[in-house]
Amino acid sequence: MFEKSDESIIQPAKAATLIAAAVIGVTLSGCAAGEDLNKIAGKAGIDFGTAVQAGDAYDPKTRDYIGKTFTMLVPENAMKWENIHPTKAFWNWSDMDAIVALAEEKGLDLRGHTFLWHQQNPPYVNALKGREEAVELLTEQINSVMTRYKGKIREYDVANEVLADNGRMRDTLWLRTIGPDYLDIAFRAARSADPDALLFLNDYSNEYAGTAKGDAFYRLAKELKERGVPLDGVGLQLHLMAEYGLNADALARNVARFRELGLKVAFTEVDVRIKLPVTPEKEEAQGKIFTELLRMAKTESGAGTYMLWGWRDSRSWIPGTFPGYGSAHPVDAKGKEKAFFGEFAKILKER
Ligand code: G3I
Repeated sequence: MFEKSDESIIQPAKAATLIAAAVIGVTLSGCAAGEDLNKIAGKAGIDFGTAVQAGDAYDPKTRDYIGKTFTMLVPENAMKWENIHPTKAFWNWSDMDAIVALAEEKGLDLRGHTFLWHQQNPPYVNALKGREEAVELLTEQINSVMTRYKGKIREYDVANEVLADNGRMRDTLWLRTIGPDYLDIAFRAARSADPDALLFLNDYSNEYAGTAKGDAFYRLAKELKERGVPLDGVGLQLHLMAEYGLNADALARNVARFRELGLKVAFTEVDVRIKLPVTPEKEEAQGKIFTELLRMAKTESGAGTYMLWGWRDSRSWIPGTFPGYGSAHPVDAKGKEKAFFGEFAKILKER
């Protein structure tokens, strides 16, 4: 159970529920059979992580839960340009520093997210006009962040969502001000800022081979590799919908073709939204997707990195962005792990 305070005084009726939950295999503590989930994930050799908000790093109970459940963290918003560098003269390092300190204290790995995006940029970035000025600012951003966190952040989503939904390059301020080589410039700047960091291109609706955007994303990654851009991996965000299920075959074919290019593949932002109201059937369909993805991430030919885009419904980006949808994460709004959460440990232990 995430919000331990709710559980600190266990009423008799609640105790019965807890016992029943244990009997049907529902774990309520981020651990299974006494072993913390992050230890189990570590033994399985997989990154099992979550996006965190800056406030999480300041809350002792949340820190504790994160520390025993996950092996890797990614800042949901703290590294985005408008947060970390809101005015040209001011760097707001405190939130990111707190997340890095949390990861260090708990022994967790970190992904950085993100430098190049068309959203969450401050006004002085949105106002950029000329190529030279844009290259200078972008390079400074990448350099400053990656130098500060050298050796502390293992990998970065250098660029996020550069393709439009039809698979063409998205019309962004970076394309308009710098031109089509903006990805080359960003990835080269990142490689030189921290040569040991792994550099990723991240996107959504890119998970399936045989779809317009999935194939366009593959072609883009291949072109970048072929022209020597320092790209180490691709991120498949995987913001999915319970009602559509998972096309495991198309996803497996996609993962395989990236790996053939010598690229790493990470499942970077997993969530599965449900069309409200929630029913047991819908939650079961949701659970199948979460668990199947973990199984795929874990196999030898799989992704190896499984990041939840937040673990709890109480702090979800979904209702604000997709009205009528919700319940997209493995822990419900009351802080209770959903039934399928117990499957995570079993899957991680499977040979
Ligand atoms: O921090 C301000 C707060 O001061 C203000 O009172 C409040 C009022 O709306 O807004 C707060 O900022 C919000 C911010 O999240 C922090 O909570 C923004 O409005 C809100 O737009 C922003 O949403 C984030 C979204 O990216 C931005 O587009 C979500 O939390 C975050 O989960 C989401 O993450 C993206 C990934 O980076 C890329 N892939 C898709 C994913 C979902 O959109």
